[in-house]
Parts: sequence; structure tokens; C-alpha cells
Amino acid sequence: MGPSGVPSCSSDAWYIDFGVGRLRFGAARYQTWRVLVISNSPDDFCGIRLAANDQVWAPTYYARTFLEILSGYNLAGSTVLDFGCGSGVLAIACAKAGARVVGSDINPHAVKLAKLNARLNDVRVEFLQSDRFRGLENFKGSVDLIVANTPSLPGRAAEVVDRENADAYNENGDGRELLDVVIREGVMWCKPGGMLLSCTNSEQNFKLSHELLRQHWSEISTVGVKEFEFDLPMLARYRDEWLSRGALFERGGLIFHKVEFFAARK
Ligand SMILES: C[S@@+](CC[C@H](N)C(=O)[O-])C[C@H]1O[C@@H](n2cnc3c(N)ncnc32)[C@H](O)[C@@H]1O
Repeated sequence: MGPSGVPSCSSDAWYIDFGVGRLRFGAARYQTWRVLVISNSPDDFCGIRLAANDQVWAPTYYARTFLEILSGYNLAGSTVLDFGCGSGVLAIACAKAGARVVGSDINPHAVKLAKLNARLNDVRVEFLQSDRFRGLENFKGSVDLIVANTPSLPGRAAEVVDRENADAYNENGDGRELLDVVIREGVMWCKPGGMLLSCTNSEQNFKLSHELLRQHWSEISTVGVKEFEFDLPMLARYRDEWLSRGALFERGGLIFHKVEFFAARK
């Protein structure tokens, strides 16, 4: 647990857990019993209990790093918007730290799952279905912190087999679509002095991200830089181009990318 009350963590793990199963007998009788579930699903992700749904983006090393950074902030009493909330992991962490939190996602399954996850963690969070900032007008000018782990995989959703990963794709193919939206428009949702906490990666072109940030925000700071192994089989068609332009790099026979986490002030 960090000083702010946001749980922090540093590793993935395999989980062996007891879940609750229900068996239906006849027309209306149910028997409930405990079953042993062995999975690598993040049902306890950095101290946050998360139910999973294969139609919703599951937290990864990105979310883990956001939690590490958030654990250093004092969020008590602040208003937070978790933009693209997915499972609700970041929103729930902020609510645990005493913030009033709104989470939004275009995926209706995510909204439903995030609501369930908030209940599992005994926190109140308002989750809304929203495409970009549409439908969030009530919060315009009232947010202290936007936390945005935006989709960054390039390509078109139709190229991806499973829906879970399709949710992280950007229709315009350069992996910047939602990042650009949050940098350009997020400022209107913040109070004066409000902050954006987000990230950009080496495939997205750091220079473009920095230029856009300077146009819309002030006091821009890098709050974390991480290199992560990055070799998703589905990205095979991009790999060579990205390696040749330095967006990916090889080390010890493995392929990595770099992710920069940044904070910016209105
Ligand atoms: C990389 S995931 C991050 C999920 C979660 N915040 C986390 O850290 O695990 C990006 C999320 O953005 C959502 N998303 C994609 N397009 C969106 C849009 N146009 N408006 C709002 N959310 C969107 C996806 O459904 C997905 O849940």
C-alpha cells in the first residue's frame, strides 16, 4: 500500500483461488459450493479483487505501473475520471484512496464488470458507458485528475481475432487515436490546476506525444519510464517496421518496447 492508500504492486503471479460455484437441480433449486479455481487471471491484482470477463481488457503491466504512480499521490477528497476504465482497476484504486471517482468506457461489458468489481472491493464508483468524452458533459471542468490508460495497439479491430484485444485497438491504425483525444480534450474536463496522468509508448512516437502535450497542457513531467517485453504474436506484421524505426528493440533475444508515463497540469 502506498502513502495515498492506493495499492501498489510489482509482480504478476499465478493464482490458486477458491471461488463459489452454483449447480442447478431441477426447475429452481440451486446448490452452492466452493470450487477450486486455478488460473492466471488477475482476480487479485495488486490488492484489488477483480472478476474477469473475456470481453473486457484485463489489467497488464501498464495498469500495474499506473497503480505504482498513483500510490504516491494524495487523492483523498479529489475528483478522478478514469477514462477507458476497462475492469475498473484504476478507478477502484483511486476510490480506495478516498477519491470520488467516475469511470468511463466505450465497452458496455467493461462498464458492467467495473460495477461488479467496485462492489467486490466495497467502494462506490460511478461507471458510465461513453465513447471518448461523449456523455461525460456533467463532469466538464470539475475533475482534479484524469487517469487514462488509453488503447495503444495499432491496426483495425477487424484484424484481431478476439474481442478482448480488439478493445485496445485504434481504428486509425497508428495507436494514437484515444491518446490524442485525451490530450486534446481532457483539459476541458479538468478544474484549473487539474492533472492528466497517462502514458505513451515507443510505437506511438514520443515526439508527437510531447508536442501535443505542450500545445494543451503545462507542467508536463515524466513520472515513470519502463521497458517491457513486447512480442505479441498478433503484431508480427508490424514487428520489422517498428524494429527498423527504433520503436521496438531487441535485448538478449527478446523484443521490448518503452512506455513513458507522464503527468501534465491544466
Ligand atoms: C488499455 S485498456 C485500459 C483498461 C484499464 N483502464 C486498465 O488500466 O486496465 C483501454 C480501454 O479503453 C477503452 N476504450 C477504447 N476505445 C474507447 C473509446 N472510444 N471511448 C472510451 N473508452 C474506450 C477500451 O474498451 C479499454 O477498456
